[in-house]
Amino acid sequence: MSIIIYAHRGASKQAPENTMAAFDLAYDQGANGIETDVQLTKDGIPVLIHDETADRTTNGTGYIKDLTYQELQSLDAGSWKSPVYSDSKIPALDELLAWNKDKDLKLNIELKNNLISYPDIEEIVCEKLQQHKMVEHTVISSFNHTSIAKLDKMKTTIDYALLTSKQMKNLIPFSKEINAKGIHIRYRLLSYRLVENATKNNLYVAVYTVNHPILIAKVLRLGCHALITDVPNLAVKLKQQTK
Ligand code: G3P
Ligand code: MG
Repeated sequence: MSIIIYAHRGASKQAPENTMAAFDLAYDQGANGIETDVQLTKDGIPVLIHDETADRTTNGTGYIKDLTYQELQSLDAGSWKSPVYSDSKIPALDELLAWNKDKDLKLNIELKNNLISYPDIEEIVCEKLQQHKMVEHTVISSFNHTSIAKLDKMKTTIDYALLTSKQMKNLIPFSKEINAKGIHIRYRLLSYRLVENATKNNLYVAVYTVNHPILIAKVLRLGCHALITDVPNLAVKLKQQTK
């Protein structure tokens, strides 16, 4: 199976992260998948934005949890990157799932519930995936491992994976215990030994956020299952060259 190139927040080097423009660009550049971040609005709508607040990537301010979906829709989520993108909005998860209907992209839905606890975010996201028939296209990940363990308790058929930026002694045993499909690790944790150990335990390895050609080449060489990058065009090119 060839490595999956996930566009991290879409093609986020060139286009404003987590906008439809960034997802469109990633698709045009040949990415195999989209990684995106989900937070919940005040009225419980799952939306795609990395930060807990609107401050960095829109012309608004405040916590996503304190703003309604309609309030968020009035914000410009593109101009901070370039005036060309001034009509970009914060997409609802619904919008991405509908967009993917006629595409065959894998979705890596990261629940951003490690700093803020969003009640029932797991149920809300799983229901959306079912409604849009995206269950087989998706893996859910999170730095909040209690939340990922909850997916096991829910007996969902959707794939899920622990996400970590830190060395964890029990990463593989815990992943097995909660029936996760893989591990999503920060690049600096990557080693041949970890890939070997994960593979032996039937777990796949995805690595983020890998943008430099030398680092991308290492991920390709070590036989990882997936690579998460801001520059899908570069990763796709390097992947083709190593075939
Ligand atoms: O899912 C991998 C990566 O996106 C996790 O970190 O902060 O970029 O969401 P962050
Ligand atoms: Mg993310």
